Amino acid sequence: MPKAISRPAPRLAGGLAVPGDKSISHRALMLGGLAVGETTIEGLLEGEDVLRTARAMAALGAQTTRTGDGRWRVVGVGVGGLREPEDVLDLGNSGTGARLLLGLLASHPLFAVLTGDASLRRRPMERAMAPLRLMGARFLSREGGRLPLAVTGSGDLVPVEYRLPVASAQVKSAVLLAGLNTGGETTVIEPEPTRDHSEHLLRHFGAELRVASEGNGRRISLTGWPELRGQRVVVPGDPSSAAFAAVAALLVPGSQVTLHNVGLNPLRDGLFRTLVEMGAKIRRSQERLLQGEPVADLTIDGSQLRGIEVPPERAPSMIDEYPILAVAAAAATGRTTMRGAAELRVKESDRIRQVAQGLAQLGVEVEELPDGLVVRGTGGSLPAAPGRLIETAMDHRIAMSFLVYGMAARGAVAVDEVGFIDTSFPGFVAAMNGLGARIELAETA
Ligand code: S3P
Repeated sequence: MPKAISRPAPRLAGGLAVPGDKSISHRALMLGGLAVGETTIEGLLEGEDVLRTARAMAALGAQTTRTGDGRWRVVGVGVGGLREPEDVLDLGNSGTGARLLLGLLASHPLFAVLTGDASLRRRPMERAMAPLRLMGARFLSREGGRLPLAVTGSGDLVPVEYRLPVASAQVKSAVLLAGLNTGGETTVIEPEPTRDHSEHLLRHFGAELRVASEGNGRRISLTGWPELRGQRVVVPGDPSSAAFAAVAALLVPGSQVTLHNVGLNPLRDGLFRTLVEMGAKIRRSQERLLQGEPVADLTIDGSQLRGIEVPPERAPSMIDEYPILAVAAAAATGRTTMRGAAELRVKESDRIRQVAQGLAQLGVEVEELPDGLVVRGTGGSLPAAPGRLIETAMDHRIAMSFLVYGMAARGAVAVDEVGFIDTSFPGFVAAMNGLGARIELAETA
């Protein structure tokens, strides 16, 4: 598995179209696989995670064909038409793929076994199984609801009204997807709004959905057995991938980078709002809508940032962005406090631990909280620790965060494993080097 070294970059300049949104890509394949007729997808993220979902949908009977770069054609089986897979479904590194798929499997009369890589096999699946059990599906899993797990689904589930105990778009989506092949109205109540890509795409494919506010959150009701029809889906660029290039441009003095076609759903844009509050120069242009999702180009200029307290209630809209925000905070003046993000502990790695450990090894003052981090900014170029190898723990976002760190550091930064970057941002190293970064790959002995 390759490691990588990121050396200080003189300045970053140019334009970049970031890869397609991971969340929307998974959902487009799943809904295309359930719809009647042909779905065409443009801009699909062809990262390892999404390719696993494409393979799983094919194993369940959908026809999935790659017709060009990021272009896919899916012919679906109709709601309720998925067939039993012949073999174990391996979702690799992808929590989204696994949890959303549980909703589909649970709501069909079939038996299936799900597994994943060492990182995914450590992550909690009970949160998705619990509501599906209430609907009538049966599961057997390893201790703590870990993969591998077996599901015995049913075409005869009962609709539920389910209040999410954690703010999780994945659990919400698993229940809504199960509700498609369930008679009556399936309702999810989320205490805080989470990304609503499932809601946008379900409507786009013809499902009937009612969304109302409830307290600080939302109540989402789906009418079962809709006639889903194949559609054209154009996937926006992933804001969670744009985040790495954006912070790199902010931190390397004198940079100017334009990121094209970035999805800026208000339930995903928390990092950009936070960076602007920290003093980042980020301009939006070419604002438009794709299937109801706001999209824009972002032009980012190198900026001196200042530390802030990130509002904890913002966490769901930037949950994947805390590692790279912590790197931005390390270069800011003053202290940045991030709280309300305990979910980070059950992502591809324990991201609070990995970020705190990596920053501390490099000489940044950082405090680990149960639900976040406090980073004392250096106010300028970042310290480096020659000879130290930063541990990424099979986590693509930890790897990319510390490679960005190296671009703005006083010396080179080495990370132990960059293969997992392909799960969400294939071509990251080449894309960053194209803007002026100096990242070099090397095989680990
Ligand atoms: C995702 C939801 C988030 C996020 C993940 C993708 C999705 O997870 O961290 O990368 O596509 O629904 P949770 O919903 O579990 O917080």
